[in-house]
Amino acid sequence: MKLMDTVTWPGRLVRFMRFMRFGPTALMFGAMPLLCAAQTPAPLDGRLLACGDDAPPVLNSRYNRGANGDAPPADQLQALGRKIFFDPGLSASGKQSCASCHSPAHAYGPPNGISVQLGGPRLNEQGMRSTPSLRYVHAPQAFTEHYVDLMDNNGQDSGPAGGRTWDGRVNQAREQALMPLLDPKEMANASLSEVVARVRKAPYAAEFNALLSPPGTRILDDEDGVISWLTTAIEFFEQSPEDFHPFTSKYDAYLRGQAHLSATEQRGFKLFNDKNKGNCATCHPSVATSSTFIYPRFTDFEFFALGVPRNRQLSANRNPTFYDLGLCGPLRHDLVDQTAYCGLFRTPTLRNAALRHSFFHNGVLHSLREVIDFYVTRDITPERWYPKDAQGRVMRYDDLPKAYQGHVNQDAPFKPLPGNKPRLSEREIQDLMAFLNTLSDGYGPTPPRPADRTMHSPSPRHLAAAR
Ligand code: HEC
Ligand code: HEC
Repeated sequence: MKLMDTVTWPGRLVRFMRFMRFGPTALMFGAMPLLCAAQTPAPLDGRLLACGDDAPPVLNSRYNRGANGDAPPADQLQALGRKIFFDPGLSASGKQSCASCHSPAHAYGPPNGISVQLGGPRLNEQGMRSTPSLRYVHAPQAFTEHYVDLMDNNGQDSGPAGGRTWDGRVNQAREQALMPLLDPKEMANASLSEVVARVRKAPYAAEFNALLSPPGTRILDDEDGVISWLTTAIEFFEQSPEDFHPFTSKYDAYLRGQAHLSATEQRGFKLFNDKNKGNCATCHPSVATSSTFIYPRFTDFEFFALGVPRNRQLSANRNPTFYDLGLCGPLRHDLVDQTAYCGLFRTPTLRNAALRHSFFHNGVLHSLREVIDFYVTRDITPERWYPKDAQGRVMRYDDLPKAYQGHVNQDAPFKPLPGNKPRLSEREIQDLMAFLNTLSDGYGPTPPRPADRTMHSPSPRHLAAAR
């Protein structure tokens, strides 16, 4: 897709100037993802505000004083957020918490192999998307149609990037938190008032009230105040380094010089980066390329169409004219006219991907091996991935209407070698799998303190290997 043309030089200049103004601060805070919140006891003050794109609305209003007129300490707000995250009492079923779908034992991803987790009042409703891991997605850039990272892609416009969820339709974690609470196929509250009523009955209601009521008032009597603080507390919890960005994988240990990659892992790493082989790092960067991150996140949060097969098990797909088109809808509403974006989904992180049992936005594949096979053979043996029509023709890219099939990415590893040979041999696939397995957390016995882990930049040796 040619997105470059749409960016004018003055636009780039303005962006560069903005970077020069805010870049250094962004570097400081971005490189220490929620070191901000990790400092204890840190009051909700200017330092914390600098962590997000803007201040939580609550902080600008009358709610920014705690019980004694003090700002609530970040660690207490985070602890409260944890209780909220694990509270099934906030759902209509009374049985589903955030953690039911985002399981801490599974890197805050789905606890099972089903494509799409069920929800709703009787826990029998099915949405249309697989549950992402919440690790390492704690600080995506705000959604933009024209992403420019001065340290990546030579500062050129990379097109749409950023935001939260598979289609980037919200930016703030606290905005996002309301989506599952109100989604009729997830926690299924009929209204915000219903959410508030559940908070009032929660085991932590008294704590909530004591921590967050402005002097002389009861926050629990104020519906707007409850919603603001509820979602802000979740946002704070989602910034907890131990839970959401521990950087305890073998690969992180390797970056810190505390572990060696085996021969097969090293070969896999090279294949991952090699533009003519796996080419994975182009979209899932293995070296921190962003101006604000030192450790690689294995996603740049950009959007692509991969031609992922239609998941015929999903109830939404029983309607043959229904398509989940990602950026251009139907869950996202503001870009429906931008048909160039139809079929594009946000690149997920590959950290902890080896722990998952359902893959891609529709959860259609169920093993990492299958995902790699898909990348390598999508265009060589399409009949393995797509069904045939009545005439026996393979319906390539069957989850996209014909008009949008041209959006499907054709770079390596998709583009086969001459003679229609796959880019990776069986042995190379094994090597790549070995490398992907180094990205799971829990390798290092003791996670380093957040301050230490951000002080390391990749070694020159590592940068050279990644090239
Ligand atoms: C029924 C399963 C389910 C429940 C319950 C649930 N989620 Fe999710 N979560 C999902 C799915 C599915 C997505 C992807 C949504 C999309 O792309 O439209 C998601 C996306 C997210 C994201 C965005 C991640 C990213 O990669 O940008 C965050 C953050 C999140 N959920 C937090 C929460 C919180 C907080 C709660 C509780 C208030 C919660 N979730 C409850 C299934 C669930
Ligand atoms: C052109 C960009 C691009 C390239 C190249 C690329 N990916 Fe991806 N990857 C994506 C996008 C976008 C998705 C999500 C697609 C979707 O769900 O529709 C994805 C999804 C995945 C997933 C599923 C993760 C999850 O949580 O569901 C895995 C695993 C994965 N990629 C691994 C790889 C590997 C390994 C390579 C190299 C062989 C690779 N990718 C190359 C963009 C890319």
